[in-house]
Amino acid sequence: MGKTIAVSNMKGGVGKTMTAASLGAGLARQGKRVLCLDADAQHSLTVSFGISEPSKLPVTLSTMMSNIINETDFENSAPRRRCGALSL
Ligand SMILES: Nc1ncnc2c1ncn2[C@@H]1O[C@H](COP(=O)(O)OP(=O)(O)OP(=O)(O)O)[C@@H](O)[C@H]1O
Ligand SMILES: [Mg+2]
Repeated sequence: MGKTIAVSNMKGGVGKTMTAASLGAGLARQGKRVLCLDADAQHSLTVSFGISEPSKLPVTLSTMMSNIINETDFENSAPRRRCGALSL
């Protein structure tokens, strides 16, 4: 069974993005399969993984949430950016 870890804080600039990126990369290096979900509208985590223009991605977390609300089958269209065991 997978574990969900949320990195959140009301305060800005306290290291949420850095923590999420480092934790994800560290767990992947330990051999864990990691999926990082960037739910921040600033999409800094996505940018930190090398995607410079997240707004141009064809499928985002917003798309997935809309699919769930609309009960659309999206099993095979899930976005995956892989780097070893780490997916974004
Ligand atoms: N452990 C750390 N040691 C030193 N600097 C750090 C550390 N963690 C984060 N920083 C730096 O602090 C700044 C803010 O970090 P980060 O962007 O992760 O914060 P955030 O909480 O995600 O910010 P925001 O609220 O704007 O999304 C960045 O410049 C980052 O490089
Ligand atoms: Mg951030």
